[in-house]
Amino acid sequence: MQKPASIDPVDKLRAERARARKIQDPCATLCTVASVDKEGFPQARTLVLRDVQEQLAIFGNETSPKWQQMPEGTVVAVVVWLPSLSLQYRLRCTTRPVATHVVHESWQQRPETPKKLDWLYTHHQPQSTPVADRATLLGILASLDLPEPLIAPDTAAGLFLTPHVIDRLDLDQPDGVHDRRHFERTDRGWLESVLVP
Ligand SMILES: Cc1cc2nc3c(=O)[nH]c(=O)nc-3n(C[C@H](O)[C@H](O)[C@H](O)COP(=O)(O)O)c2cc1C
Repeated sequence: MQKPASIDPVDKLRAERARARKIQDPCATLCTVASVDKEGFPQARTLVLRDVQEQLAIFGNETSPKWQQMPEGTVVAVVVWLPSLSLQYRLRCTTRPVATHVVHESWQQRPETPKKLDWLYTHHQPQSTPVADRATLLGILASLDLPEPLIAPDTAAGLFLTPHVIDRLDLDQPDGVHDRRHFERTDRGWLESVLVP
């Protein structure tokens, strides 16, 4: 029941995210990425989903547990929900590091506090580790010496997410029956099948 796809689902996702951004959808820039931790438990978190060199990418810090869960070639699940368009995308993606110079250039666009936090993760404590209390955390941040000129720490990192399987669910149908399509990337291009929603 698979047929050559009538659309490129990655282009479609890009176009629909752009449309959602235009109408100020609060989820237009976001995704949920699920990985598996070292104990075998699923872990999901919200991340900013970026367009870098016309590919999907996420940015974070190598000290965080999620980065250890997603080395190059790992398969992760990604969900994009665009409420303004009543669209859900579920993607199966493989990870690939973004070149360091690209990460470092992009890092310069970050607001000041996330920049400081990246240096805190690097020199004081890895991301997602416990601190005594919030006041202690704020104290460390306040006393942090940032490098001059301000550059990204080596732990700043990015991952391209290359989709291989995409499930697009469009709730906005005049007859009320959701439109659900499954796409698989093959050597012959994307194949498409219609799924029971
Ligand atoms: C709207 C929103 C956007 C976020 N964007 C990012 C992001 O781009 N990168 C990131 O590392 N964490 C981001 N976070 C924080 C993550 O969800 C998560 O709490 C953090 O990265 C620690 O995750 P970990 O313990 O799985 O490493 C975002 C959270 C929210 C609510």
